[in-house]
Amino acid sequence: MTEPTESNVSRREFIKTSATSGAAASLLAGAAKTRAAGANGRLRIGVIGAGNRGFNTLTKKLVKLRELGRNIDLVSVADVYSVHRQRFVDYIKEQTGVTPTTHVDHRELLGDKDIDAVVIATPDHWHARITLDALAAGKHVYCEKPMTHTVEEGAEVVAAWKASDRVMQVGVQSTSAPVWDMAREKIDAGLLGKVVQFQTECARNGKFGMSRHNLITKEMTPKTVDFRRFLGVDEGFHPDVPFDRELFGQWRCYWAFGYGMFSDLFVHRVTGMLKATGLRKPGRVVGGGGIFFEYDHRQVTDVASIIADFHEGVQGLVSSTMVSEERKLDHIIRGHNGLLLFDKSCSGNSGKCSFEFVPERPQVTLNSKLKPETFHAKTELDIVSTHCANWLDAIRSGKPTSVNNDPELAAAAVMLVNLAVRSYREGKVFHVDRAGKVSDGNSSWADGWEQLSKAEVKPRHVPGWHAGDTGSVMYPPEYQKLAGPWIDGKPPETS
Ligand SMILES: NC(=O)c1ccc[n+]([C@@H]2O[C@H](COP(=O)([O-])OP(=O)(O)OC[C@H]3O[C@@H](n4cnc5c(N)ncnc54)[C@H](O)[C@@H]3O)[C@@H](O)[C@H]2O)c1
Repeated sequence: MTEPTESNVSRREFIKTSATSGAAASLLAGAAKTRAAGANGRLRIGVIGAGNRGFNTLTKKLVKLRELGRNIDLVSVADVYSVHRQRFVDYIKEQTGVTPTTHVDHRELLGDKDIDAVVIATPDHWHARITLDALAAGKHVYCEKPMTHTVEEGAEVVAAWKASDRVMQVGVQSTSAPVWDMAREKIDAGLLGKVVQFQTECARNGKFGMSRHNLITKEMTPKTVDFRRFLGVDEGFHPDVPFDRELFGQWRCYWAFGYGMFSDLFVHRVTGMLKATGLRKPGRVVGGGGIFFEYDHRQVTDVASIIADFHEGVQGLVSSTMVSEERKLDHIIRGHNGLLLFDKSCSGNSGKCSFEFVPERPQVTLNSKLKPETFHAKTELDIVSTHCANWLDAIRSGKPTSVNNDPELAAAAVMLVNLAVRSYREGKVFHVDRAGKVSDGNSSWADGWEQLSKAEVKPRHVPGWHAGDTGSVMYPPEYQKLAGPWIDGKPPETS
């Protein structure tokens, strides 16, 4: 669904116009009446997509937070699968005494003006549409990653979020680990000198292969699943096809619904690296890989790499296999002065959040004060709860910018991984200009860097840089004065 095909265009057009469609217009009318969040002291939350993530993780974490004293109630569920709706109702009734309302169509849930906020954990192809509807209905949003299925949808969600006063958190929970902000402070202060590259991975291996560990069961039938709605036939997301448990339960393996390791896993790691470096949109992206092992009629890759170059003069490298994981790529940010090596648990759901500074040789940096050092950020033992609590705190305080993964950061991560998928599938390189416009690649990227080199400018820096030139400029050796064209037969050193 990522290439500019006719169906993709109609999907985008549909999402763009949805805010003015009849259904959305009535939602907007309802939005005006939506209560101020927590007006009576309690925040009323609906869950849209109560599957593995929406129910087993997010619903249960929110119930736990409620037990710990948060003034929240889970009051409604929208899901196309009746078994999941009932499971949610039974659990919430038993745990909290509240009887949630149930819906198949998320718009009915959003039409309830007594609901303040929603959690969206449907498959990826529905994220943008539901988020736009939710913001239009005046709800605060917790949307699972990837925030959207396409780059264009990412821009639409950012615009809608900015035009609202709603709080929106995107579900890359590791962004709530304080380690990325701590790394950012060190980088901004000049510890690394000029930042030139980050590298990361999310390798996995399992006997059932990538995404086949998601169970499909006999209970999944055309009677229990509104399959047409799952596909998004009426929304132009997917043509009508016969019911298939695999498409419904293992949607990650098919491009129309997700993009495999790119959207499921890489987006986590990329978001952390963007947060630590301060980088956002890439300037040039290429993706590679293939289906090298899992020939089970899946569409998505089992081995893939991304090379993303940024206008700030930094390269992002992501590389993994889904069928071999014993020695993974280190998670590193490299600068001229040294590198930051992150403990892999920084990107996990719990664990210690530390990173090491490994200096380059003083003969190179001309700085003998740079010494190896380990930094310990606060350990977050339950990062998903921390991330949910961060969302709830931002709602309570009315500060949409205080979430740890806001839509702008989330859209940048989607852009990087989504363009890599398109590159792999379409055999192209993509360019992104500073305004975020995407085009096919050409020689301008390399030409631009060569022009800067010829003009002997100073290097560009990551956003927020205020550390000056130390570790960021090269000092050419004396003999370099001998370089250059001889003008009128005279050597360059005499001019
Ligand atoms: N942050 C994380 O670490 C993390 C982990 C797992 C999954 N996720 C994300 O959570 C999302 C869900 O993944 P999952 O593993 O729970 O999938 P899942 O298939 O287990 O659950 C999806 C649920 O959405 C329902 N659904 C499908 N279309 C719907 C629609 N139009 N309206 C309402 N409900 C609909 C399904 O019936 C199902 O109950 C994905 O976007 C995934 O990327 C994030």
